[in-house]
Amino acid sequence: MNVAMIGAGYVGLVSAACFAEFGASVTCLDVDENKIERLNAGEIPIYEPGLEALVARNVAKKHLAFTTEFAAIIGGADLVFIAVGTPTRRGDGHADLTFVCAAARQVARHLRGYTVVVDKSTVPVGTARDVKRIIAETNPSADFDVASNPEFLREGAAISDFMRPDRVVLGIETERAAALLRALYRPLNLIEIPIVETDLESAELIKYAANAFLATKISFINEMSALCEAVGADVHAVARGMGLDGRIGRKFLHPGPGYGGSCFPKDTLALVRIAQEHQATLRIVEAVMHVNATQRARMVSKIRKAVGGSEAGKTLAVLGLTFKPETDDMRESPSLVILPALMDKGAIIRAHDPQGMDEARELLPHGVSYCDDSYATFEGADAVVLMTEWNAYRGLDLRRVLGLMKGNVFVDLRNVYEPEDMSELGFSYHGVGR
Ligand code: NAD
Ligand code: UGA
Repeated sequence: MNVAMIGAGYVGLVSAACFAEFGASVTCLDVDENKIERLNAGEIPIYEPGLEALVARNVAKKHLAFTTEFAAIIGGADLVFIAVGTPTRRGDGHADLTFVCAAARQVARHLRGYTVVVDKSTVPVGTARDVKRIIAETNPSADFDVASNPEFLREGAAISDFMRPDRVVLGIETERAAALLRALYRPLNLIEIPIVETDLESAELIKYAANAFLATKISFINEMSALCEAVGADVHAVARGMGLDGRIGRKFLHPGPGYGGSCFPKDTLALVRIAQEHQATLRIVEAVMHVNATQRARMVSKIRKAVGGSEAGKTLAVLGLTFKPETDDMRESPSLVILPALMDKGAIIRAHDPQGMDEARELLPHGVSYCDDSYATFEGADAVVLMTEWNAYRGLDLRRVLGLMKGNVFVDLRNVYEPEDMSELGFSYHGVGR
């Protein structure tokens, strides 16, 4: 089976490599020439664990190739996946479909023989029908169907999420399209992964509803963490006690500085806009977004209070800048809100991140000192702020940390360490909700 993957970002590149691993013959296309040049030179433009080896293996087997030329691959493809970005549109918060529509137009021009054009990007309800209209208008003689196949992988665990997903969702209109998609996903069917076949609109909405619900769990526990602090309860005990109820579930109840990343923030906002467009309201999702913004502000206040009421002139050793560990992605990272707020009030920032520092240099205000070694951040610091729970920060030599610091404040925004242990070591320790 010949597959064309349009977009070589986090989703396109991982999906292309995984479909190739399933045995399909995949060509991944991007309009970013530099990205494709690097991929053709054997370099992976993003940090995603396991991806380099998977790509190399499938390129060597000639199951996977990269190009910038639509004309070279679309005509021979059975399935064309659109996996381009759908960021927040400036000004109104809707999903920006510029890239999806441009890809659809470019694909349309080169279609030859029956082809299924599949939206993998996260797109508002109705987009598959828009893509269908664009293709039909651009190339009236094209023989094609559209389908929706939203992606649920997480950055940092993308390959295992793709290879062993909880489910595959297929929005389809014809049996012919369904048969091709089922054949592509057959390796997952063999390991009994549920496949949800539904209409285009439902498939599109499932993706937003799932992300909004996960964001709801996070905002719920973050709000509980504030209450725990007020009443003297431990949010971890609360989360465990709640989460052991199978109807609630334990996952995504970890408090922190608020959710970030390229998806939850933009997708919750886009979902609210979709509802508004259809004269519906989503009060819960609106509240989830509000609580997330509040949580970031609450973290700024927490750090301020921990260093004695004013961050002016205080040196903060910041561990982790990316929105979560095991990725170099800085999009909507809580650090991009929390650190500028502290710097505005005169805080001095010494920061480390295992993968995110190049990107952070572009996005954070000038004046941050970036340290190649995490221990270098502690030199002369008044306080440590653990922002992202990279494994490298879980096993710190804490006596050495204290020895390097000027002060003894440790603000753990991910609750990596135990409050009692930290107090015993001599830290003034501040977690979230404990
Ligand atoms: P990304 O920004 O990493 O990659 C998008 C790529 O598309 C870029 O390389 C860009 O150059 C390319 N592109 C733009 N226009 C193009 C065109 N006309 N033709 C060919 N290539 C083009 O984005 P991403 O994180 O991979 O996300 C892609 C989609 O998948 C989004 O809708 C996102 O919401 C969704 N999604 C993302 C994740 C994730 O973890 N990142 C998970 C699930 C779903
Ligand atoms: C998320 C979803 O988990 C994926 O299923 C989905 O495919 C993807 O969005 C998407 O649509 O793009 P991702 O953003 O990569 O994946 O990362 P998550 O692991 O979900 O984390 C998102 C944010 O929530 C991070 O900032 C993380 O620190 C935060 N989080 C997560 C918490 O604060 N607490 C938790 O319990 C879980």
